[in-house]
Order: sequence, then structure tokens, then C-alpha cells
Amino acid sequence: MLHVEDLRFIHPGQPLEYCFNFTGQAGEVTAISGASGSGKSTLLDLIAGFLEPRSGQIKLDGADLASLPPERRPISLLLQSESLFEHLSAGRNIALGLPPRTAKEIIRQKVDQALGEVGLSGVEHQIAATLSGGQKQRVALARTLLRDRPVLLLDEPFSALDDETRGTIRDLVGVLTRSHGWYTILVSHHADDVEQLAQRRYRLDEGRLELY
Ligand SMILES: Nc1ncnc2c1ncn2[C@@H]1O[C@H](COP(=O)(O)OP(=O)(O)OP(=O)(O)O)[C@@H](O)[C@H]1O
Ligand SMILES: [Mg+2]
Repeated sequence: MLHVEDLRFIHPGQPLEYCFNFTGQAGEVTAISGASGSGKSTLLDLIAGFLEPRSGQIKLDGADLASLPPERRPISLLLQSESLFEHLSAGRNIALGLPPRTAKEIIRQKVDQALGEVGLSGVEHQIAATLSGGQKQRVALARTLLRDRPVLLLDEPFSALDDETRGTIRDLVGVLTRSHGWYTILVSHHADDVEQLAQRRYRLDEGRLELY
């Protein structure tokens, strides 16, 4: 279980103190919605370790994450438009998810397998700059697969996509979350995304999360 308890934070110069409480289960998508500026990205930044809370706990199956630096947290982050290295091939971008000095043959196998899982077999040599928005999001998901970290944070990941692509990638996130047992946290303004994907829904208002 992913358990965030009394995680408190104040942005410098802002009056509001956030106090976040929620739980997420393995293989489930937990949705966070709320008005623009309500603090959704702030919450993800705290979980990822880019912001430091004043107090509170982030626990994954009982282990404390809050004391770990960002790079040691078992977390992947996928944003609205993915930050691929545009001049590298899809395959090279995905291979960045693997530890340094992984053997070439293993890299090839794993990249092939991850591309297959996201429905993009055959594009490994294509330069990222020449991929469509939806293909880029799939490449980013493939990289996430190779990193194989149990917590996946998604901040409006489908916003830049057309309706059809959005549906396909949304379904893919659901399938991967279930099959890999990820704890997926989805920040989205879109009721559709939340309804289709989330097993648990929270609304963020006045610095507090409410189940609904
Ligand atoms: N570095 C910062 N310093 C001070 N205030 C900040 C900082 N970053 C964000 N804020 C403020 O904190 C509040 C929450 O911001 P946040 O980005 O978490 O909102 P959000 O819910 O993700 O909004 P959106 O839906 O527009 O992405 C906003 O009022 C914002 O202006
Ligand atoms: Mg935001």
C-alpha cells in the first residue's frame, strides 16, 4: 500500500498550508482532481522528492520514502508532453531506463519487449523528433516499463493528445498498472480520464484531499 499521511507543506510566501492524506493500492489508479492552482502538482512534487515537506510520511509497503533523495525513490514521472531526447532514436530513449553498462544484447531484448507492450514494435530506430505526440507518450511509457519502479506519477499526461489517441494511451496506462502492480497516481482535470481509469478518486480543495 502507498500511504501518505499528514504530509504538510507551505509554498514560500503563500498563506495556505497543505495537509495531504491518501492511500493507493498496487495495481490501481488513484485520481487527483481539483481546480487549477489547487496544489495537484505540488503533491506530486512532494511524493517525487522535488519539494521537501514540513512534516508527514510517505510510506510504500511500510518503507519510508520521504527520507530518500528523489533519485532513490522507486518512482517514475510522466508529464503532459514527454521530455524525450529529440535527437535520439526511440530505442535509445527507452534504453535510458536501463542501468548503465547493461549488455547490448539485453538492451535490445528489453527495448523490443517494452516497445511491444506499448504497441510500437518496429520504431526503435526512428528519431524521437519525428514521432507523433501519442507515439512519444508511448515511448515514455516504454521507458517507464524498463525502469520498473512501482510508483507511477502522471500529471495531465493525456492533455496534448487528440481524443482517439488519448483513449488508447489511457487504456494502456490501465493495463500496465494492473499487469505490473503499479501504484499509479493520475492528476487530471478531465472527468472522462478519471471515470475510465481510476479505482479511487480524490478531490483537492483548500489544501485537503477528499474521497468522492
Ligand atoms: N515555487 C512556488 N513558489 C510559490 N508558490 C508556488 C510555487 N509553485 C506553485 N505555487 C503556487 O501553489 C499553488 C499550487 O500550485 P500547483 O502547481 O501545485 O497547482 P495545480 O493544482 O497543479 O494547478 P494546475 O492544474 O494549473 O497545474 C498555486 O497557487 C501556485 O501559484
Ligand atoms: Mg499542475
